[in-house]
Amino acid sequence: MPNMRISLGFLLLITLQTLMPESIAQDAAVALKASLLANYDKSLRPVKSVSTHVNVDFDVSIRQIIELSEKDQIFRVNLWLRVYWNDEYLTWNASEHGGVDSLSIHSSDVWRPDIFLYNNIAETYGNIEAITDVTVTSTGRVTHLQPTIFTSACPVDITRFPFDKQECILDFASWIYTGDKVNMSQVNPEAGRSTFTPNVEWILNGAPMSRKVDFYPCCPHPFVTILIILQLERRSFFYMFNMVLPCAILMILNVLGFYIPPDSGERLGFFMTILLALVVFLQVLSGSLPKTSTTVPQLGLFFAVTIALVGFSCLASIVVIRLSYSGPAARPLPRWLRLLLLHYLARLFCMDTIAEEKHVDEKKEDVSNSSHQDSQTNQPRNTPNLALDLSLREIVRYSREYLAQTWKKKLEEADQDEWKMAALVLDRALMILVGIASIVACVILLR
Ligand SMILES: *[C@@H]1O[C@H](CO)[C@@H](O)[C@H](O)[C@H]1NC(C)=O
Ligand SMILES: *[C@@H]1O[C@H](CO)[C@@H](O)[C@H](O)[C@H]1NC(C)=O
Repeated sequence: MPNMRISLGFLLLITLQTLMPESIAQDAAVALKASLLANYDKSLRPVKSVSTHVNVDFDVSIRQIIELSEKDQIFRVNLWLRVYWNDEYLTWNASEHGGVDSLSIHSSDVWRPDIFLYNNIAETYGNIEAITDVTVTSTGRVTHLQPTIFTSACPVDITRFPFDKQECILDFASWIYTGDKVNMSQVNPEAGRSTFTPNVEWILNGAPMSRKVDFYPCCPHPFVTILIILQLERRSFFYMFNMVLPCAILMILNVLGFYIPPDSGERLGFFMTILLALVVFLQVLSGSLPKTSTTVPQLGLFFAVTIALVGFSCLASIVVIRLSYSGPAARPLPRWLRLLLLHYLARLFCMDTIAEEKHVDEKKEDVSNSSHQDSQTNQPRNTPNLALDLSLREIVRYSREYLAQTWKKKLEEADQDEWKMAALVLDRALMILVGIASIVACVILLR
């Protein structure tokens, strides 16, 4: 037992010994802080000579992109600010003050550069509020680290939506001090991104910083601005998957719709259904498109072109169906149309074999008909019997009439077939036209 008591006392002694310098240091720090701030005027620049300028080093770490609103052109971002400067009144000799070489003082108790975000549009004024403490070393170096949320104006150009890239610029400058009083400079060429939390909608490609010095006619002093350029790129996968893909499928169906035979009766209904689906789809998705009227986004244009193509397919179908049902009163195909459709276009689409065959068939029947007629007119001359002759003549007359009628009917049918043929060739031409237009639209608008 006595052993244990001794060891306990020993322990207490050790802890006291280790704590002693700390408590002395703490007292020294309190005294030092009181003495430093006793005659401190935080509204004056911390320089002993008026001509000295305060060098302010400005650095930023990007924490998170909160939002970028296309409609309101508002950009909200969470930044970690790091501002460093020298304060000539906050210096001391560490060995004279119990080895205290750094102090933390609340930032509202010392002079701070009045850095403002110039393109701020929040309800606050865009200044960096005094929230955290600053750290001061014995040499007078002041470090101010502070998290801040900034809301700035960012002009958003949605012409290339959803493949757009945006640049949001944050410009920081001192509000009352010119460059010869407070000289701001950047620490790094680029804003830090080590603590960046990826955004689900935007990719941060880079955040270069630059220092800009402006001279205005009013005054000879330079005005220094630090710019942070946030280069954002939209993640387009969501739009590709949910908007472009269904629309592209409808586009393909629209081209394939021309494969339905015009006389099957399904064709027009099919195109109409696609058109309806597209309109309903657009209604649902119009909420996702940026609601601006200054420019048409690329995706909106893609929808518009798709609807126009499907509308054109409906119209083309009506024409083709009308042509292929030209009816018994149809006039023969006009020469220019026959030349254009059955000659040139049919040959172009390798459909000329069907067209040629039809013509050959007609000619063959023509020849066989005329030979029949010849043999029939020659026969009655050599018959002796009058009665027989008369009845034979009757038969011949009837058969001629019959032949003439069937011949006329055949001609009409041939005309109708020709119209039908022309409709088929026109149909193929339109299908290729719509197909090419769809591909061109996809290539141009989905880059
Ligand atoms: C700090 O104080 C010590 C002791 O008084 C002295 O020796 C030293 O030179 C001082 N240092 C400076 C930088 O003044
Ligand atoms: C202000 O800072 C810039 C960049 O750090 C430096 O080049 C310039 O010389 C400074 N201006 C003055 C007057 O010291």
